[in-house]
Amino acid sequence: MTIPVHKFDVVIVGAGGAGLRAALQVSEAGLKTAVLTKVFPTRSHTVAAQGGVAASLGNVTEDNWRWHMYDTVKGSDWLGDQDAIEFMVRKANEVVVELEHYGMPFDRLDNGKIYQRPFGGHSQNFGEKPVNRSCAAADRTGHAMLHAMYQRNVRAHTQFFVEWMALDLIRDADGEVLGVVALEMETGEVHIFHAKATIFATGGAGRIFYSSTNAFINTGDGLGMAARAGIPLEDMEFWQFHPTGVAGAGVLITEGVRGEGGILRNANGERFMERYAPNLKDLASRDVVSRAMVTEMKEGRGCGANKDYVLLDITHLAPETIMKRLPGIRDISIQFAGVDPIKTPIPVVPTCHYQMGGIPTNYQGQVVMPQGDDLAAPVKGFYAAGECACASVHGANRLGTNSLLDLLVFGKSAGETVIEDLKNNKAHKPLPENAADYALSRLNRLETQKNGEDVAEVMTAMQRVMQGHAGVFRFKELLHEGVEQIAKVAERVQSTEIKDKSKVWNTARSEALELENLIEVAKATMISAEARKESRGAHVRNDAPDTAEHPDGRNDQEWLKHTLWFRDGNRLQYKPVQMKPLTAETVALKKRVY
Ligand code: FUM
Repeated sequence: MTIPVHKFDVVIVGAGGAGLRAALQVSEAGLKTAVLTKVFPTRSHTVAAQGGVAASLGNVTEDNWRWHMYDTVKGSDWLGDQDAIEFMVRKANEVVVELEHYGMPFDRLDNGKIYQRPFGGHSQNFGEKPVNRSCAAADRTGHAMLHAMYQRNVRAHTQFFVEWMALDLIRDADGEVLGVVALEMETGEVHIFHAKATIFATGGAGRIFYSSTNAFINTGDGLGMAARAGIPLEDMEFWQFHPTGVAGAGVLITEGVRGEGGILRNANGERFMERYAPNLKDLASRDVVSRAMVTEMKEGRGCGANKDYVLLDITHLAPETIMKRLPGIRDISIQFAGVDPIKTPIPVVPTCHYQMGGIPTNYQGQVVMPQGDDLAAPVKGFYAAGECACASVHGANRLGTNSLLDLLVFGKSAGETVIEDLKNNKAHKPLPENAADYALSRLNRLETQKNGEDVAEVMTAMQRVMQGHAGVFRFKELLHEGVEQIAKVAERVQSTEIKDKSKVWNTARSEALELENLIEVAKATMISAEARKESRGAHVRNDAPDTAEHPDGRNDQEWLKHTLWFRDGNRLQYKPVQMKPLTAETVALKKRVY
């Protein structure tokens, strides 16, 4: 069988914010660029980002990048690399203003400047009081961002391959990445994309959990491909549960609601966050708020017959503010919760939202992994940005609106690094003869599987294990059982069967392939979580008690380090956290209090 080969300078997988920003950088530099995407670019999951993008513009309240850096390091519970964090927060104003110049319809202040609202964990003067740092286009910031960048990419002649699914990385005998093997979903045909540089911007994998704010397309495809190609996944034990998913539906209600003055209340009508975070209250960081909500419910102060949700109250806000700043939230509340938030509080629960870990990269967007004595040596030809990557700026807990910032800053920097690297790399390296064999063998297994298991059933089994064993609070025994149970689910993934073998638009085949990616993420998560014997950020264990030596169960002596999970043998390795920023002073370790 002859497999069609497409040659590009740069192949980017994923057309969300990071993919589009990276594509823009390289296309505008004249590099021949392909973007492969499972859905039309403006339907990528970035579309669901609501509340804004962080930048210390200081348009509403005084601000500066040092406060933003402090908040991000503190939010990460000191697991974020301080060089990458400094890089990101110092680039923030530049990338936001660029976006404005691309035509992004930000909300405006009366003086014409970009509107900014407060967001969780973002503060003035090193934690003193909330700061207005989130640059917003109402509650549809991601949507507006995708449209602005897609149009700009069309102008730059980026070539989009829409409804294409990348299957596997191509690495040669030297370990260099030379592109991807991909499936054209419309025809079911397999193609090779041969590139001098490959950038992954495939987004997250929140679909490993049963309850998630994530789109159905968020199946960790980039992480699965990287893991199968021998590249480790970093810090996968850290998952963010967004405090305000609509109860029973999981749909996101932006933190911007609390930024505009929304208050969380328990069944007694009490503003309970005052007890958990006396200073920032409802605007404490997400891990803190989610744990407070679960504690309220566990202690019997949840709402409803089953006491299994709390209320997000904005009935005290002026209806005009809600209509102007939060119109999408009002629609979502009416559609999914059956309440008009102008009159009635919204029932909410913490819901899986974001993976802090991912494919290890440096702040230039190069994928890095241990090679010899170097724990972070670049993998030639391979770059990653956005949620699929771990730069690592979010550490153990991400601050809201730092994700849109991450994808702009690191999408751009990955693009810039590629431009530099390709100056010395004029020709395509030859493809290995067996470039597509691995992907073809996986497809062949699906074609020929007999007496196998139903994909949806195995998917649900995986999601239930993850939800039950690696949720907001983590328990020693449940983590231990979770490792065993996820290994059993992984065996079942090896023998899934699809009844429909047709080629054209076979979504059953795509879903089976997506499950093969999700299960790698699920294994990495459970194994890394079971192994980390401390509490930090979003990873809180019952057997890591709050002591004077280890406040809140955080153990910096033993665990101030990044986890690397390798698919081969489920091996774990660790590497130090970069505590030294580029130019600023290190944000010194201390107890995290809001
Ligand atoms: O709450 C939100 O609007 C989500 C933003 C984010 O995850 O950064």
